[in-house]
Amino acid sequence: MNTRTHRCGELGKEHVGQTVTVCGWVDTKRDRGGVAFILLRDVAGKVQLTFAEEINPELLQATREARGEFVLSATGKVRERDNENKTTTIATGEIEIAVESFEILNTAVTPAIEVRDDLKCDPELRLKHRFIDLRRRPMQAMLQARARLISAARATLEAEGFLDVETPILYKRTPEGARDFIVPSRAHRGQFYALPQSPQLFKQLCMISGLDRYFQVARCFRDEDKRADRQPEFTQIDIEMSFVNRDEVMALFEKVVASVFKALREDKRFKDQAWPVLSDSSVAPPFERMSYEQAMRDYSIDRPDLRSRELKLTDLTQWAAGCSFNAFKGVAEKGGLVKGLRCPGMGETFSTGQLKNLERDAKGMGAAGLANLAVVGTRGSVSLQGGIAKFIPEVEQQAMIAAFGAQPGDLLLICAHEKHKVVHAVMHNMRLLIADKLGLNDNSKFAICWVVDFPLFEYREEDEKLFASHHPFTLPQDVKRVSEMAEISRKGHEPHPVARMLRGGVKLEDVLALRNNQYDLVINGIEIAGGSIRMHRTDWQADVFELIGITKEEADKKFGFLMSALAHGAPPHGGIASGLDRFLMLLLGLDNIADVIAFPKSATGRDLMIDTPNEVEPVLLDELGVKMVAKPEK
Ligand code: AMO
Repeated sequence: MNTRTHRCGELGKEHVGQTVTVCGWVDTKRDRGGVAFILLRDVAGKVQLTFAEEINPELLQATREARGEFVLSATGKVRERDNENKTTTIATGEIEIAVESFEILNTAVTPAIEVRDDLKCDPELRLKHRFIDLRRRPMQAMLQARARLISAARATLEAEGFLDVETPILYKRTPEGARDFIVPSRAHRGQFYALPQSPQLFKQLCMISGLDRYFQVARCFRDEDKRADRQPEFTQIDIEMSFVNRDEVMALFEKVVASVFKALREDKRFKDQAWPVLSDSSVAPPFERMSYEQAMRDYSIDRPDLRSRELKLTDLTQWAAGCSFNAFKGVAEKGGLVKGLRCPGMGETFSTGQLKNLERDAKGMGAAGLANLAVVGTRGSVSLQGGIAKFIPEVEQQAMIAAFGAQPGDLLLICAHEKHKVVHAVMHNMRLLIADKLGLNDNSKFAICWVVDFPLFEYREEDEKLFASHHPFTLPQDVKRVSEMAEISRKGHEPHPVARMLRGGVKLEDVLALRNNQYDLVINGIEIAGGSIRMHRTDWQADVFELIGITKEEADKKFGFLMSALAHGAPPHGGIASGLDRFLMLLLGLDNIADVIAFPKSATGRDLMIDTPNEVEPVLLDELGVKMVAKPEK
């Protein structure tokens, strides 16, 4: 095999007259009797190899053996194509290589999927044959963009004095929201490691070790329900800083985001890509900030998609409390929530059947129904029509129209439920759907915002438990109040902290009104990063553990190392972690996170190519002291 002199896609008119050697895969082949053409493909692009009888009849004969995806090396002279044969479909379309010698380096069986840019096929088939799928230009460009994103973030962070520190993969179970993947230990029979859901505590320990600024491109593992923007194994750009406040961490991360945008925009390899990151130049820090409260009020979600920012929800609870429609009134009186969405100009968009389908979707989310009303009339005399309009007297109708700011021609969708969660879920989904109908969910635009001032705790009614809404290491905004509540809880005898606090005179609404020092960065309704300022004092940490029901013994067992470290002069610190895969998915305008990972898991969490998870030999299980039991019958 001759030594490669150039990559296929690098050749151009400037090489005319030179003898070159290229290597690659047969993309396509055309045989025209006295002349054959092979389009040879490598990582840089494609080039046409021309085999002419007049140059070497034996070679022409030999090309007949070469088939799609065979691996070739070819040597020949670069020459300009005749004008009528020039093409713009490939970057090297003005030239070709008149082959003088070539070698088949390897044969190839017919692949299960085609190596073409616009391949449309079953996603599982692509995953099963990922090594072929990755030969396609969009996939290679994606991997190049991914590497560029990482290198840009790394360069920015290093310039800002951050140190790249690797943290363990064999870790320990910690409460971070999702289930852990656990790994049995052979040396310590009956004991298990857990894979890290994030390097959270290690990065805090790095601060306590005096490293000042840490970062890592960190692999994280979470065994959670699948979603298009989730993978069980994903990557974070993980950051932690000492002696900083919330604004400083946010400003630093804005620099990272801006550097990534710039790097991808300026990279010439991507000039032919139709990625949103290359077209929307409106992203510039500082990014807008929104409180959790405002996000929930206007959008019923803590990660609002602001591409449709004008589609705001209206809180009708107060109106409902005084209305004549019993279903709404009852909900309002029981402390429930009544919210509505004004769908501008959509009074006649949906058929009765389609409105029924919307209601069916709402019921699927736990709602009792979804009321719809058409706003009719002229500017001077507007009223409501259809659905529940007959149960709402004229004065109340006018008050509702005013609350919505509704215009004739609008459609109003309303959901009421005792459980606020249900109303939020329904109205968030309706908002997305209506935004889609109005063409507002444009993937080529970025609507970016920080969400701040989250509740410190979430409450689970079923077992009266409080959970840290970010993670339990996040600093409350009012540590003094938390400390007072923890004191009250410690004095009680009821089994749960909430019951103990209630007995001690604390109101649940006051507990739920506590806010933390968390910040999430949201792009187009997807959370691409989240972080917080942490607790650096053991007493503060112990107070939060107390309120989420982690006893002192449990805290010592699970987090003894953290409590001990905090007691050894922990500096004030905070950080953030960005879901690299999600971020890239948005930048490239893709809908599925699997499309930005070289070797992702399928929708059911399997690697279809290497076929895992799989069973292991019984002898291995014996060594580990693990016994398989049959799944119990349902
Ligand atoms: P958090 O749990 O919010 O915070 O995660 C940070 C970011 O990681 C991304 N992400 C995921 N991406 C793909 N698949 C998943 N299953 C998945 N889960 C999360 C999201 C999210 O914003 N240790 C804290 C960070 C900190 O406080 O500094 C943490 O992990 O983009």
